[in-house]
Amino acid sequence: MPDPAKAHTPAGDTDIDIDAYWRSPDDRVRLYHGDSLELLDALPAESVDTIFADPPYFLSNGGMTCKNGKRASVNKGKWDQSRGVEENHEFNKRWLAACQRLLKPNGTIWVSGTSHVIYSVGFAMQQLCFKQLNEIVWEKPNPPPNLSCRYFTHATESILWAARDRKSKHYFAYSTMREENGGKQMKTVWRMTAPKKSEKSHGKHPTQKPIDLLRRILTASCDEGSVVLDPFNGSGTTGVAAASLGHNYIGFDLDADYLELTKRRLLADNERWAGLRVVS
Ligand SMILES: C[S@@+](CC[C@H](N)C(=O)[O-])C[C@H]1O[C@@H](n2cnc3c(N)ncnc32)[C@H](O)[C@@H]1O
Repeated sequence: MPDPAKAHTPAGDTDIDIDAYWRSPDDRVRLYHGDSLELLDALPAESVDTIFADPPYFLSNGGMTCKNGKRASVNKGKWDQSRGVEENHEFNKRWLAACQRLLKPNGTIWVSGTSHVIYSVGFAMQQLCFKQLNEIVWEKPNPPPNLSCRYFTHATESILWAARDRKSKHYFAYSTMREENGGKQMKTVWRMTAPKKSEKSHGKHPTQKPIDLLRRILTASCDEGSVVLDPFNGSGTTGVAAASLGHNYIGFDLDADYLELTKRRLLADNERWAGLRVVS
């Protein structure tokens, strides 16, 4: 694991003219409240090493699913409603282009999604000339059953990994991944459970990702002391994983309640901040 003391802080090269919603006492983690389309444009070009984005999947269409054995709405919030195929694609292309501007020449981006969004993301990446590296399939061992019994039960999500452009020489922790996989090359199918109960002890988010998934993603793709960005922060899983691995983190979200939840998760996970004064 990288030595957190050796990592540079993001303050020098990524500080922006917008007040942060919250900064960690060592200024290595920053959360911003607002629309990522605007916030992404405020960051300096080529200042970020790794981006993880879990964007709206556009699946809040009034349908039903099964949660803890009970019928439940699939609706996650207004932010997840489809605006029609073309507008959804324009949105994906806009935030992906903004992320590409922020990546350092060898930087990489990961984007998760289901079929509702991932084809648009993949096409937008092709249009923007990202270099495709891998398509990870996250397999959930215990997916909710399909209530209509007219389809196979959905048990996977895709995660596209791409480098900034065709010339990028991306970082990959090949040996660590092989070790994690018992000495064999790690495959692109990752079997991992949904977030555990303990990961939700500070509050709930409707689309929280498992911490193990983000830890693997960042371990595989971040060199020591990286600057990690998540433009769709949610409950802050990327930030919690980044801080625990000694990286710097910047997270954006439209919803202040989710940033508050992120803050609680980060503070609980980082006792080292207890004695430090908050950076103003
Ligand atoms: C799919 S969730 C991310 C969940 C996150 N990966 C986690 O583990 O908790 C997407 C998040 O993006 C936020 N969001 C949606 N559109 C946004 C936008 N244009 N700008 C900033 N945040 C946005 C939503 O409020 C939501 O919390």
